[in-house]
Amino acid sequence: MSYYKVKGTYDVLPNEAKNWIALENYVRKLFKTYNYGEIRTPIMEYSQVIHRETEMSDMVTKETYNFKDKANRDLTLRPEGTAGVIRSYIENKLYAAPGVTKLYYIGPNFRYERPQRGRFRQFMQFGCEVLGSNEPTIDAEVIELAYQTIYQLGLKQVSVQVNSLGDDASKAAYRKALVAYLTPFKDQLSKDSQIRLEQNPLRILDSKASEDIEIIKYAPRPQDYLNETSKMHFETVLSLLDTMHIPYEINNKLVRGLDYYAHTVFEIHAMIKGFGAQNALGGGGRYQNLVKELGGPDTPGIGYAFGMERLLDALNQEAIELTDQTTMDVYFITFDDLSRKQAMKLQHQLRTQFISSDMDHLARGFKQQLKEALRYDAKYLVIIGEDELKNNVVQLKNTKTENQEVIPMDALLQTLKERLNHDKI
Ligand code: HAM
Repeated sequence: MSYYKVKGTYDVLPNEAKNWIALENYVRKLFKTYNYGEIRTPIMEYSQVIHRETEMSDMVTKETYNFKDKANRDLTLRPEGTAGVIRSYIENKLYAAPGVTKLYYIGPNFRYERPQRGRFRQFMQFGCEVLGSNEPTIDAEVIELAYQTIYQLGLKQVSVQVNSLGDDASKAAYRKALVAYLTPFKDQLSKDSQIRLEQNPLRILDSKASEDIEIIKYAPRPQDYLNETSKMHFETVLSLLDTMHIPYEINNKLVRGLDYYAHTVFEIHAMIKGFGAQNALGGGGRYQNLVKELGGPDTPGIGYAFGMERLLDALNQEAIELTDQTTMDVYFITFDDLSRKQAMKLQHQLRTQFISSDMDHLARGFKQQLKEALRYDAKYLVIIGEDELKNNVVQLKNTKTENQEVIPMDALLQTLKERLNHDKI
């Protein structure tokens, strides 16, 4: 009998975990720079948090993992972070704090989609939500932050796409116009879009089905239905982005895959050749009714999320190494029981100071130990042979410079502390 991972999931092995940790550290540092606090919510929510009357997107209606617990409660694995964060924001009365609330999160989400490159059934997102401001400055800051996320990582081949769906009134007027335009073509639309026409017509705009594309080409666009306030809001957001020199494109077909959005929406696409169909690295936008709908006070919000698998894939494609990858500090080379015993003692000392190390535990020969040290990319070798034991010293070898010196055993910790610190500068 063989056992396999669940379809659409993956294991992160130690050599890949390094990249994940580096990315998470980077994300935390960036959010801190923008004054965000971390929030951690459960991966399961009562189904009604996710399955709301107003949310008819495919993601929520078709792709969620739903189940009953032993007490017959309906639970859903979160397909995205926003709904749970808003539930928590309300339940914990975070709205009572003065000013805007800036929250960020990192964690797994679950969608029953057809797995392919960049698309999994369990996938990681980091994202943020800002609650409590209607000001266009926060729309611009959130887009700037999304752009910085990519820019600071060094990804170059990306496109920032923005659009506005307008406020509720503009959205309703647009929806009406779109349905009026599409209805005569109903029979020519794809099966999915025929259903969307009733439930969720805006989604037809970004359909990839060939029979839809020709029809969509001439469909009315959201921007033609923005009322004055919505237009002003969007123009201010764009002018703030210009002020900060954030490169963006207006994509007037961009509607996003969730129904809660209003006003500003945006996505960041990888434009790397051969990246594949799932090239949306991240996306987000403004939502005006979600807090109210989930039982909180009338509070606007805006946020985004990035897919971490896709980001790591993009980094890999552009041959960008995340910088804070920690390699092993020291590998001990030993020859017999006595030198192994001494190495154990020294390792214990080093590890109390968080100097990372390892040694051979298979009584292997010198050559194999050396190979192992190279595999781990150890910065230093500490060699303890018979002579060294006799003289209470070790050989300390810098693997980069190949410089080798003799160090008294009791000076090893101090010497390594100084060297490793110095190497960091
Ligand atoms: P979303 O566009 O559904 O937005 O997801 C954001 C990102 O998550 C996508 O751009 C993609 O990189 C990644 N992603 C989505 N589905 C998958 C999947 N099956 N496998 C791998 N990666 C995936 C949201 O989730 C919103 N909650 C964003 C937001 C926050 N809007 C406002 N606040």
